[in-house]
Amino acid sequence: MKVVDNIQELRDQLQGQLRVAFVPTMGNLHQAHLSLMKMARQHGDPLVASIFVNRLQFGPNEDFDRYPRTLLDDIAKMEQERDVYVLFAPSEKELYPEPQSFRVQPPDHLGRILEGEFRPDFFEGVCTVVLKLFSCVQPKVAVFGKKDYQQLMVVRSMCRQFQLPVEILAHETVREEDGLAMSSRNRFLSAEERAEAPALYQTLQRMQQQVREQVLDAHQIEAQACEHMRARGWDVDYMALRRQSDLLEPTAEQYAQGEPLVALAAARIGATRLIDNLEI
Ligand code: PAJ
Repeated sequence: MKVVDNIQELRDQLQGQLRVAFVPTMGNLHQAHLSLMKMARQHGDPLVASIFVNRLQFGPNEDFDRYPRTLLDDIAKMEQERDVYVLFAPSEKELYPEPQSFRVQPPDHLGRILEGEFRPDFFEGVCTVVLKLFSCVQPKVAVFGKKDYQQLMVVRSMCRQFQLPVEILAHETVREEDGLAMSSRNRFLSAEERAEAPALYQTLQRMQQQVREQVLDAHQIEAQACEHMRARGWDVDYMALRRQSDLLEPTAEQYAQGEPLVALAAARIGATRLIDNLEI
């Protein structure tokens, strides 16, 4: 695996490659990241991965400085898997040599709801860096995880609207044995919090069950889920039932007729904010 921190060198390495597969990450790799790489490897060649902790997508009071940076461990993990051809790991100076005053702003109906309500600049930061990374790597396909469901949708619609020649593939959420979605932030959990953390997924499963039973309406299910998590000591941002197609609320009629839905959750346990979702 070649490790490249420079855009020109990356372009030289990938010269003439028309089937590049790409997996962008912020590093601190776990099994889910490696599984995305495995999938990407099956849809293109060579496989390029990137590691870049993108300042633009962190709010002023978020964990940018605290975000785990473990480049040497990450390289060792990728070397072991033998899937990655080039790891692109630019410095901030390389990717943002001047203040990034041009930004990609997602539409409010997609970028300001759910995660975007609680992290107002998050999707603008994600879109801007993903567009820049795509311009560096010029992939034919790129793989994103469903764990970050709204991010996947935002990136997909950015590519569609800018007519970027990149196919976006979705990878299922990879979980620990007890159901907790893998995340770089799980390492911040104390032993006690780690034991409680699977409750988030369990509550999503209960929402799924309740939708199937059709005894309660969507708002009642959301309210119950919130209440349940709060009673367990979580600080809840949202527990939401939305349409898979556009993340808006289903009408009562759609709900009754079995519209494909997704239950999405964001909540803090102690100081750690976790997100998860489940398609219904
Ligand atoms: P990061 O959190 O490192 O995630 C990189 C990719 O791995 C994303 O597509 C994410 O959805 C996926 N992923 C993480 N945990 C997963 C899990 N448990 N199951 C399935 N997929 C999972 O997401 C980002 O970085 C950044 O926002 C990025 C897209 C790189 C832009 O900076």
